[in-house]
Formats: sequence, C-alpha cells, structure tokens
Amino acid sequence: MLHKDIFEELMSESEIEKTVSEIADRINADYEGKTLVVVGILKGSCVFFADLLRKITVEDCQIDFIDASSYGGGSASSGNIKLLKDVNCALPGKDVLIVEDILDSGNTLCFIKEHLLEKGADSVKICTLFDKPSRRKKPITPDYCGKVVDDLFIVGYGLDYNERYRNLPYVGVLRSEIYS
Ligand code: IMP
Ligand code: MG
Repeated sequence: MLHKDIFEELMSESEIEKTVSEIADRINADYEGKTLVVVGILKGSCVFFADLLRKITVEDCQIDFIDASSYGGGSASSGNIKLLKDVNCALPGKDVLIVEDILDSGNTLCFIKEHLLEKGADSVKICTLFDKPSRRKKPITPDYCGKVVDDLFIVGYGLDYNERYRNLPYVGVLRSEIYS
C-alpha cells in the first residue's frame, strides 16, 4: 500500500499524459527526417521513456540506455559521476536525445552529454520531465522540459527515494521528514 501521508500529489496521471504528449509533439516536429537515437538514463527515466517513446513518430528512431548515477542513496548529488553502463550503438551520424527524469544539480547530465558528444554524436539534446533550476551547479539547460519544480524532493513515475516509489503512477512531493 502506498501511503498518501508521506507525499502530496504534484502531477496526476492525466497531467503527466498531457505533458508527455506536448513534449512528443515538439520532438516529432524537430527531428522529422533525422536519424534519432533516444537514450534513456537508468533507472529514473524508465517510465517517462516508455511513455514518450510510444508518442515519437520519427521513422529512423533507435533506442539505447546509459546508467551514470551521482546518487549514493540520499537526496543530494555527490558530484561524483560513475558510468555504470554505456550505450551500445555507434553514434556518428546520429542525433541523440537524452531522456531524463529530473535535472537537478546538472552533474549527471553534463557528464553524459559530454560523453555522448565524445562518442561522435552529431548532436545531443536533453529532454527531462522535471527541472529544478534553483539547484543547478553546472551550466546546463534542458531542450525539452515537462515542468519546472521548486527545491522539493519528488517521487513516483520512475523517480525514487532509496529505490522506493518508482511504481507510483503519479508524481508526489516526499515530505521532508522522510529524508531529513
Ligand atoms: P543531478 O546530477 O544532481 O542533476 O541529479 C540528477 C539525478 O538525481 C536524477 O536523475 C535523479 O535520479 C536524482 N534526483 C534529483 N532530484 C530528485 C528528486 O527530487 N527525486 C528523485 N530523484 C531525484
Ligand atoms: Mg536519475
């Protein structure tokens, strides 16, 4: 049982659906006729990735995954990025779209974007469902963003706290008593 007393709803299932459709429309317009590789960052983006992917209509579209977490189990970025799993596909001649759950300090995405450019991608853009710009430590902005949020810790729809709550179908704000 998932308890409503430990979080407050931030984005409902229907709001998520609408947001994902709006992002997909923009991506479809921007990438029409291109060779697209949609790269999901494990594990947080998995639910968003799956929903977004099914709305992408670009004909020449591949997917891949990368894992490079900066989190050691708490609610703040360590800044130490470890590449746990690299993409498998060759990137020269491809336009890469990174799909992330939330852009926080920017440490993870800065590292991954640089890494994918070094692997020879023609272009690398960032699509994140949530953005917490007030916590940014690196000069990075998303190309596609679902919702800007305050400095709150959110869970659900793939987003976790200590690996829990990813299975919530909506996004909620975790009460600070839980993680402080
Ligand atoms: P960054 O490197 O600080 O930008 O961290 C980004 C990663 O931190 C995201 O991919 C999430 O996994 C995690 N993260 C940041 N903020 C939250 C949050 O509010 N809830 C859950 N995970 C978060
Ligand atoms: Mg993550």
